[in-house]
Amino acid sequence: MRTSGTSISVELEDRSYRVHVQPQGLAEVGRAVASVCRGRRCLLVSCRRVVRLWGEPVVRSLESAGVAVTTALVPDGEQAKSLQQAEKLYEALLRARFDRQAVVVSLGGGVVGDLAGFVAATYQRGVDFVQVPTTLLAQVDASVGGKTAVNHPRAKNMIGAFHQPRLVMIDPVTLSSLPKRQLRGGLAEVIKHGVILDARLFRYVEQHADALLAAEPEALKHVIRRSCQLKAEVVTADERESGLRAILNYGHTLGHAVESASAGRWLHGECVSLGMMGAAYLAEDLGMVTAAFAGRQRDVLRAAGLPVRLPGLAPEQLWERMSHDKKAAAGSLRWVLPTRIGEVRIVSDVSKETVLRALERIGE
Ligand SMILES: NC(=O)c1ccc[n+]([C@@H]2O[C@H](COP(=O)([O-])OP(=O)(O)OC[C@H]3O[C@@H](n4cnc5c(N)ncnc54)[C@H](O)[C@@H]3O)[C@@H](O)[C@H]2O)c1
Repeated sequence: MRTSGTSISVELEDRSYRVHVQPQGLAEVGRAVASVCRGRRCLLVSCRRVVRLWGEPVVRSLESAGVAVTTALVPDGEQAKSLQQAEKLYEALLRARFDRQAVVVSLGGGVVGDLAGFVAATYQRGVDFVQVPTTLLAQVDASVGGKTAVNHPRAKNMIGAFHQPRLVMIDPVTLSSLPKRQLRGGLAEVIKHGVILDARLFRYVEQHADALLAAEPEALKHVIRRSCQLKAEVVTADERESGLRAILNYGHTLGHAVESASAGRWLHGECVSLGMMGAAYLAEDLGMVTAAFAGRQRDVLRAAGLPVRLPGLAPEQLWERMSHDKKAAAGSLRWVLPTRIGEVRIVSDVSKETVLRALERIGE
C-alpha cells in the first residue's frame, strides 16, 4: 500500500488501483477513467436519488474526457441487489452493444456498488469497473477491496465475485446530502477499523465525534482516508479472505443475525454497532479484555449516535440465526474478538452459554 497526496494505492500486481479521496473529485472522474481504462464508453449505474443529486458533474466530466455515457438506474435500497436487477443491467449493456472494453461506473452507496461490480465482474467474463461511492459506508469500506455480490432470496451476498475496481473516486462533498442516519451507519465501520487496527483512529473519533456527525469536511476526509489506507493494507495482504481479511468482519457475526432478524428496520452500520458490543462482552467474558474496553467502545458508539442496546432482543432466536448462517457457510462460527483497542484475534469454539450471556447484556 502506498499513499501519495490525496490518493492511496492498493497494490495487487496487475489488479492494482488508486483510491482518490478528493473534495470536488466528481469533476475529476472523467480524466481518471480515461487514464486507467482503455474503453471510451461507460455504463453509469446509479439510483434516481443519487443521480439527481450528483449525476451531472460526473456525466459532464466523463463526456469532456471523451468517455460516452449510457445511464442505467436501479431501484433504491437493498432489494436492488438481485439477479433480476443484474439481468436488467446486462440487457442495457447488450442493447447499447457494449463490448469487452466496456467500463461500468457505479455512482451511489454500497448497494449500487455491489450490484454494478457484480455485473462488471461477469459481463463478457469481466470488464473495467470504477467506483464512485456516495455514502460514508461505501467510502470507508464497500468501495475498496473488490467484493461484489447480489443477494439470494434465502441469504444476503450469496452470489458474487472478487473483482477489483480500476479506480475509486471518493468525493467527501457528496456526503453533504446524505441523511444523518446513513452517516452514523458509516461511522460504525470507521470505529470498527479503529478497534481492529488503529488505536489512533479510534481516539480521533472519540475526540471528533461532534464534527463527524456535523459532516465537517476535514474530519470526514481524515477518517475516510485513514479507513481506506487500513482497508487497502488488509486487502493487499489477503485479497480473497483466506486469513487476515476476516478481521474486517468484527461485529458482523452477530450484526448479520440482527440485520436479518430486523428485516430492514436496522441499517447495516447499526447492526454492526450492536455486533461490536456483543463481541466486546464476549471478549470480556473470555478474559481477553477488561470491562474498561467495552465501556470505552460503548461510549464512542453512543457519541456517534449508534445503538448499543437492543431491548427486547431474543438471545435464543439470534443464536439460531447465527448457527444457521454457520451452516450456510459450511464452516464453524468464528468470532473476531478484541484484545485491546487496535488489535483483534479470531476465536472459534465459543460456547453457546457464553454467547447467550453476551447477547443478554445487549438486550438489558
Ligand atoms: N462490497 C463490500 O465490501 C461491502 C462492504 C460493506 C457493505 N457492503 C454492502 O453495502 C450495502 C449497504 O450500503 P450503503 O449503506 O451505502 O446503503 P445504500 O447503498 O442502500 O445507500 C443508502 C441510501 O442512501 C442514499 N444515498 C446514497 N448516497 C447518497 C447521497 N450522497 N446523498 C443522499 N442520499 C444518498 C441511497 O439512495 C440509499 O437510499 C449493503 O448491501 C452491504 O452488503 C458491501
